[in-house]
Amino acid sequence: MSDPVSVRHFLSLMDLSPDELRALIARAAELKRLQRAGTPHASLQGKVLAMIFEKSSTRTRVSFEAGMIQLGGASMFLSPRDTQLGRGEPIEDTARVLSRMVDCIMIRTFDHADLETFARHSRVPVINGLTDMCHPCQLLADMQTYFEHRGDIAGKTVAWVGDGNNMCHSYISAAKQFDFSLRIACPEGFDPDAQVLALAADRCDVMRDPRAAVDGVDLVVTDTWISMGQEDEKARRERAFAGYMVDGSMMARAHADALFLHCLPAYRGKEVAADVLDAPDSVVWDEAENRMHAQKALLEFLIG
Ligand code: CP
Ligand code: NVA
Repeated sequence: MSDPVSVRHFLSLMDLSPDELRALIARAAELKRLQRAGTPHASLQGKVLAMIFEKSSTRTRVSFEAGMIQLGGASMFLSPRDTQLGRGEPIEDTARVLSRMVDCIMIRTFDHADLETFARHSRVPVINGLTDMCHPCQLLADMQTYFEHRGDIAGKTVAWVGDGNNMCHSYISAAKQFDFSLRIACPEGFDPDAQVLALAADRCDVMRDPRAAVDGVDLVVTDTWISMGQEDEKARRERAFAGYMVDGSMMARAHADALFLHCLPAYRGKEVAADVLDAPDSVVWDEAENRMHAQKALLEFLIG
């Protein structure tokens, strides 16, 4: 039987144009105002989102579920433990079946290639809810948060301090799509993927010294040193990342107006000092909330 029809997916930030991304951020701000004012905005009545989680989640799950309810639709949580996926039903077959019943599918998994395989066999839009390669939904929220507090990020300088991981990769894509410069400070052996870096080579600098990286920047971002699936590497990673914790003395080197972002969950005293996370220039709670508003805008864009 033939496989689908071309639909728009959101597997990485590169799947939308810069104009589409900016429109989405603007719509997210509008949806936030509507929700705060208690104004109904049920634009996805009767629509269903399926969510497959092969890794843990707090924010992603709750933001999509709450968002779909607010838009008048519904969502369902599927885990490999209690679906046939966990017993070996092929990804392709699962995609064919699910996409005949629901209007959109969100997936959080390990291997990005599995997400791409799923999307190729889906009749409905597929959203990346995090893979080992990238976390584009988080970047929608991060960009919304920066815009909300400081205005346009175009032409600004951002420092990524820590692991060259999935979040770092999405920052590289964002540097290209939103037109900012990115300094990436990571220990040797923890660089971002060279192919991802090549996407925005003209806007990114990889460096070893985190203090030099944050000098005068407009935004400082970090993430855990031990991503989901890397638990066995904890001791080795904590040794390698010594000196990379974002602390008050590091933040003091950034621009006076600089913001601090972290996708969360955060490990105080590891990648970020407690007083940085809890300081007024840390906007991580707005960032977490904006996951919901930004993804509502994304769902409208893809389904609506
Ligand atoms: N930032 C983020 O994706 O959080 P969760 O793992 O809780 O979904
Ligand atoms: N880099 C982290 C992000 C969690 C939202 C991970 O992959 O576990």
